[in-house]
Amino acid sequence: MIRADQHLVLVGMMGVGKSTVARVVADRLGRRVFDSDAVIEARTGRTVREIFATDGEPAFRELESEVLLEALREPTPVVIAGAGGVVLSTTNRAALKGSGARVVWLCADPVTLVERVKGGGHRPLLDADPAGTLQRMFDEREALYREVADAIVLVDNRSISDVVEAVLR
Ligand code: S3P
Repeated sequence: MIRADQHLVLVGMMGVGKSTVARVVADRLGRRVFDSDAVIEARTGRTVREIFATDGEPAFRELESEVLLEALREPTPVVIAGAGGVVLSTTNRAALKGSGARVVWLCADPVTLVERVKGGGHRPLLDADPAGTLQRMFDEREALYREVADAIVLVDNRSISDVVEAVLR
């Protein structure tokens, strides 16, 4: 159960529904939503794809980290849709654990995600071999999502409203 004084952070793989669920949950809680990719795009005036292409993945990861740390410092509790890769950095994981935020891992079978990420323009990492890449990423990140999560919500075969209820529970 989320406390009124806690940030809520959704983590999980690309395509799992973090942005959509975060919007609905924020609405329900009457909170502002911080969607990592959207904040990065608004701030830089460039798309995630452009940033990857021009500056490379490490530069993108720095922005991702900056946005997470800033959102966690917000004085009033917010809902944060973390980018998929946010758990890769030790600093980010420590910040998530040390912030007192409630972290919920939206977890899906990578096979389910393949269909969902089709046409995702902001996911250049999936341009080649999306199925294989998602499986590899899941294998690399599973333990990291688990490490930061206070709760795990399985999203396979569940509607958005079902997932929202589970996140709020
Ligand atoms: C990434 C996830 C994407 C985006 C970028 C990298 C990742 O965000 O930040 O393509 O490494 O998992 P979503 O999780 O919102 O799709």
